[in-house]
Amino acid sequence: MSMDKTRFFDTQATETWARAEYTDQETEKLRQVMSAAGVLPGMNVFEPGCGTGRLTQLMSHQIGPEGGVVALDMSRAMLEVSRNRLKGAENVSLIMDTMENTNLVPDYFDAVICHNVFHHFSNKIAMLRKTAEILKPQGQFLIHHFLELSEINNPARKIHDIVYQDLMPSLEQMQSMLSLSGMKMTYYSDSNDGFIVRAALA
Ligand SMILES: C[S@@+](CC[C@H](N)C(=O)[O-])C[C@H]1O[C@@H](n2cnc3c(N)ncnc32)[C@H](O)[C@@H]1O
Repeated sequence: MSMDKTRFFDTQATETWARAEYTDQETEKLRQVMSAAGVLPGMNVFEPGCGTGRLTQLMSHQIGPEGGVVALDMSRAMLEVSRNRLKGAENVSLIMDTMENTNLVPDYFDAVICHNVFHHFSNKIAMLRKTAEILKPQGQFLIHHFLELSEINNPARKIHDIVYQDLMPSLEQMQSMLSLSGMKMTYYSDSNDGFIVRAALA
């Protein structure tokens, strides 16, 4: 399943939805969301499902030379675009792996940030447990999507069978998954301005 999805995302790396630069409005929104999640210069941030590295680049600037961004994606083609985009960004490391199975240093990150990706994780509990393991005790977990939940899950938006079942959990499901993973929700917002969940270690 995961291999098939990996190949699917490989085919998407040249598509406009994956590569187009963020508009000024999107960039401003992401800056606000990061700032609300406490992303500050000097922090160590982890970004699973970084795709073509657009947010990675933004965060690299935000955290500055004293901080570090580790960005991961299972798609070789997506990471290739990220690698080109982030050439020379000394505070960025890129990893090719699945979020659920990757090995990272526990207790290391100040923030884990999922942008436009959480619904795609095949094993969300494994993803959340990994997040809880790598966050520092005061670390923040953020899920953000430009769209509201009903749009993320709208079957008409799914561009291929392989992602048809990739759904954002309901509020109740999210609370339960976070709790099973040793985290607690600290903020939830679902509106036509986007979807945001913030959580911390329980
Ligand atoms: C919709 S794209 C979003 C990319 C990026 N976050 C953005 O907003 O442009 C989802 C990305 O997550 C990656 N992905 C999906 N499931 C993954 C998993 N289990 N582990 C690692 N990467 C994954 C895909 O390869 C793809 O690049």
